[in-house]
Amino acid sequence: MNSQLCPDILWVPLLGLLLLCIPAAHAAKCPQQCVCDQIQLAVTCVNKNLTDVPPTVDEITVKLDLRGNDIQELPTGAFRHTPYLTHLSLQRCNIRRVKEGAFRGLGRLVFLNLANNNIEILYQESFDGLSSLKQLMIDHNRVEEIQPGAFSQLGFLNLLSLTHNQLVYIPNLAFQGLQNIKLLRLSHNSLNYLDTEAFAGLFTLTRLSLDHNELQLPEVTRLDLSYNPMTYLGEEAVSMAKLTHLFLDHMSLQELVNTAVSKCPSLTHLDVSHNQLRVIQPFSEGPPKLARLNLAGNPIYCNCYLRPLREWAIQRKVKLLGTCRGPAHLAGENLDAVYPPELRCQSQEAMLKAEFEEATRIMAPPTKEPENRVKCPANCVCEVSTSTHHSSCENRGHTKVPRGFSPSTRLLDLRGNHFHYIPSNSFPGVAQVVSLHLQRCKIVEVEDGAFSGMKGLIYLYLSENDLTSLSPNAFKGLPQLTYLHLEKNRFTSFPTGAFKLVPGLLALHLENNTITKLEAGILNGAEGLRALYLTGNGISQVSPRALSQASDLDTLHLGGNKLKEVPTEALSKLGNLRDLRLSGNSIRWVGPNAFQPLERSLKELYLDNMGLEKNSLAGLGPGLRSLFLEGNQLEEVPDLHPLTSLEVINLANNPLMCDCPLLPLRMWIEKVNLKVRATCANPPELKGRRVKDVHVFKSCPGGESLPFAPTVTSKLAKVPKPTKPKPKPLSGPWQVKKLKAKSKLRRSPNKNQAAAKKRVTKRQTMA
Ligand SMILES: *[C@@H]1O[C@H](CO)[C@@H](O)[C@H](O)[C@H]1NC(C)=O
Ligand SMILES: *[C@@H]1O[C@H](CO)[C@@H](O)[C@H](O)[C@H]1NC(C)=O
Repeated sequence: MNSQLCPDILWVPLLGLLLLCIPAAHAAKCPQQCVCDQIQLAVTCVNKNLTDVPPTVDEITVKLDLRGNDIQELPTGAFRHTPYLTHLSLQRCNIRRVKEGAFRGLGRLVFLNLANNNIEILYQESFDGLSSLKQLMIDHNRVEEIQPGAFSQLGFLNLLSLTHNQLVYIPNLAFQGLQNIKLLRLSHNSLNYLDTEAFAGLFTLTRLSLDHNELQLPEVTRLDLSYNPMTYLGEEAVSMAKLTHLFLDHMSLQELVNTAVSKCPSLTHLDVSHNQLRVIQPFSEGPPKLARLNLAGNPIYCNCYLRPLREWAIQRKVKLLGTCRGPAHLAGENLDAVYPPELRCQSQEAMLKAEFEEATRIMAPPTKEPENRVKCPANCVCEVSTSTHHSSCENRGHTKVPRGFSPSTRLLDLRGNHFHYIPSNSFPGVAQVVSLHLQRCKIVEVEDGAFSGMKGLIYLYLSENDLTSLSPNAFKGLPQLTYLHLEKNRFTSFPTGAFKLVPGLLALHLENNTITKLEAGILNGAEGLRALYLTGNGISQVSPRALSQASDLDTLHLGGNKLKEVPTEALSKLGNLRDLRLSGNSIRWVGPNAFQPLERSLKELYLDNMGLEKNSLAGLGPGLRSLFLEGNQLEEVPDLHPLTSLEVINLANNPLMCDCPLLPLRMWIEKVNLKVRATCANPPELKGRRVKDVHVFKSCPGGESLPFAPTVTSKLAKVPKPTKPKPKPLSGPWQVKKLKAKSKLRRSPNKNQAAAKKRVTKRQTMA
């Protein structure tokens, strides 16, 4: 297989590769130098020396990989031809300048990588329009200036990475607008000054990396450098007059020089827990006020070398936290509980030997591991390089979730195995996995905390298993989970309560289960949900309060169920619903005001193949863009004139009665330039003729102005009028993201402002 069909963009579900043999439904254009995957809607043009963004990329592309070209400058609107992009890779493109509005129109983009270019300035409008963006990588450029407001439109950004640039200082409010930022990486710059409000407004930030800069930080009192991969902290490494709390935990420190913090006269708390420290010397030169030293989780060896520290701690009343790792008779003892005389060394030789044995036992795996060897469990294939981080054990007959994947794995594919159940904590050490595939694994149960620790997981595929229920703690510890696939399982009722611990969930797939009713409160705890897919269940009842929590819901698919009427009451709280699908239910009659609650929001409405006999469109607003009514029993069609934004309509396969009552439809067809697909079924002599082509309406009162219908010959000669295409029925993440992005695109400005206001007021009230 051509390797370029497997772009290293990590999010490509491998399923796509299986599907490649199915002929694509859509004949897309493909730029000459590129490889186009029409199933994944991915276009790859890597290392081609292209000097421009190829203009002929197909509009429906969602992933565009342009790494290794020579683009130099990204002009305004550079991607306006590909509005559905969700992933864009632009590494190594010699880009010097990103002009204002370069990404305008990419309201669905989720990942943007601009690493390894020569960008110097981030302009105020460089990132305009990226209202759905979650990750922005600008590492290894020459950024020296961030203009005010550069990030102001990135209200959904979680990760901003600006490492290895030339930033010297961070002005006030530089990151304003990043209302959802979690990780901000500024390591390896030349920062020597942070304005007092440099990080103001970043209420959601959980990690800030500032290592490898030149900071003095005179005013800072708490500094958190946790989880940085630093191994050594040298003399006077931190020198900050007002610092009281310093967090250096979860790093890789193997040595902490005893003067490392001696220039921090105010320091009271030092946390060096969870590092690789074995021995620590007393901080005899200060800091004088130190009261707590946290050494938990280090392999501290409690022998004579630790005695100075212990004596110093007793004398200076410094509380030591942590336990001894060895020797055997002291293992597990609290550091604060061992007395200096117990900290002995045997003969030097004996001690070295004991220590060596201890060290090989405890330390061997982490230190002896050759760095370049990819960790991979038996009977799996792992491809981990600088650009690819996929591990796969697909269809290998595993009965237990394999362990020992490389910690840098991003895509983990375990589909088609025989796990039967997923025990707690089944995925240790793979916190960077973004996409986890567990389709077709015969899973009947997911234990509490099965995925805990998977902090980066965004996509979870549990489709085609045998799940009937889910515990409330099944998805514990997945802060980023956004897309959850549970289609084709055996749920007979909605797994209420299982989503409380998944605050970031936007899209939930439950198609093709056998759920029979939607009861009140099913979405408790999933208030942020944007898209709910319930096509192909057996739903016959929807409680009026079933969906009342999900006021952000944008997409609701209820096709192929057993509904007898439109669940208007349940829809009444969904003021943001844009896409509603009821196809294939047996709803014979749609009453007046059935869609009234959705008047302002609804854009796409599917009422096809329902046996519909009477349809009232009252309550459908001028915002509706697509209306599907094909395959029903309609003899008449209500007046469509109020639907002034309609772009797609389908009236095919209805027994239309071509007589004066249908005149409003005929008049409407004359006025709009749309393909309507309306044909007469009656009277018998007009059967099969297009409504547009029959003369009968000209003799109806009010129909005089209609033109003579073209004869068959002239119809053939006529140039067909352009029609707007029906949106292609795509499934999978593209569809989800598209819908999600759409809603954000339209609602974000006000919503973000409102949310920001809310936060500010909340903080003020708290303060
Ligand atoms: C790109 O340019 C380099 C240097 O001019 C050349 O060596 C390489 O063959 C070119 N690659 C392509 C795909 O044209
Ligand atoms: C549901 O089942 C139908 C019929 O087998 C199939 O066409 C459709 O793709 C399925 N949808 C999902 C999301 O599994």
